[in-house]
Amino acid sequence: NASRSMNIVWHKCSVEKSDRQELLQQKGCVIWITGLSGSGKSTLSCALTRALHSRGKLTYVLDGDNVRHGLNSDLTFQPEDRAENIRRIGEVAKLFSDAGVICIASVISPYRKDRDACRSILPEGDFIEVFMDMPLRVCEARDPKGLYKLARAGKIKGFTGVDDPYEPPLNSEIIIQQEGEVCPSPEVMAEKVISYLDAKG
Ligand code: PPS
Repeated sequence: NASRSMNIVWHKCSVEKSDRQELLQQKGCVIWITGLSGSGKSTLSCALTRALHSRGKLTYVLDGDNVRHGLNSDLTFQPEDRAENIRRIGEVAKLFSDAGVICIASVISPYRKDRDACRSILPEGDFIEVFMDMPLRVCEARDPKGLYKLARAGKIKGFTGVDDPYEPPLNSEIIIQQEGEVCPSPEVMAEKVISYLDAKG
């Protein structure tokens, strides 16, 4: 809100992102994992942070479920609150990437405009969107937390994929899909993301 941000001036310090990246020997960026509940976002974020960590890279995972326990504990699943959830996670991810960290955000982020807004606040190339392109029937069959069952029974209202929309990305950098009816293993999914990062330097 521009009117609330009047009379404040950006303060620049002599230690910058490039200095931190030099120190850490890595490039800070945001890996934004989006997809339905049960699509494997958390599985990928854990495998990816482990794989990068073991290569000596500093990472940090922002998981929707976890952030909603603290910073975003005041937010519901109404569209305007989901938008605010994504906006805050995007801003926090930006701070991490500015610190030189590889920040992995793992959030449903169902609305395209909210994801695109997060992309727009980062330098070109620093926002890497990973789309967990898993069919709803697969996510629902997994139902790791039993939430689809509750949503179908009408006990949760506005559940993504059931009675709240998921808008798939149109131009994500990476797409994770099934091969036939088989879901890739966590290691294979993580390797796909790491290959992309390697290719981009
Ligand atoms: S969002 O839409 O990006 O703000 O959601 P997110 O912060 O990622 O939180 C998703 C987790 O919240 C649980 N949950 C719901 N998901 C979707 N719709 C509704 N109504 C809902 N209510 C609770 C669910 O456990 C999600 O976790 P994941 O890891 O995606 O399964």
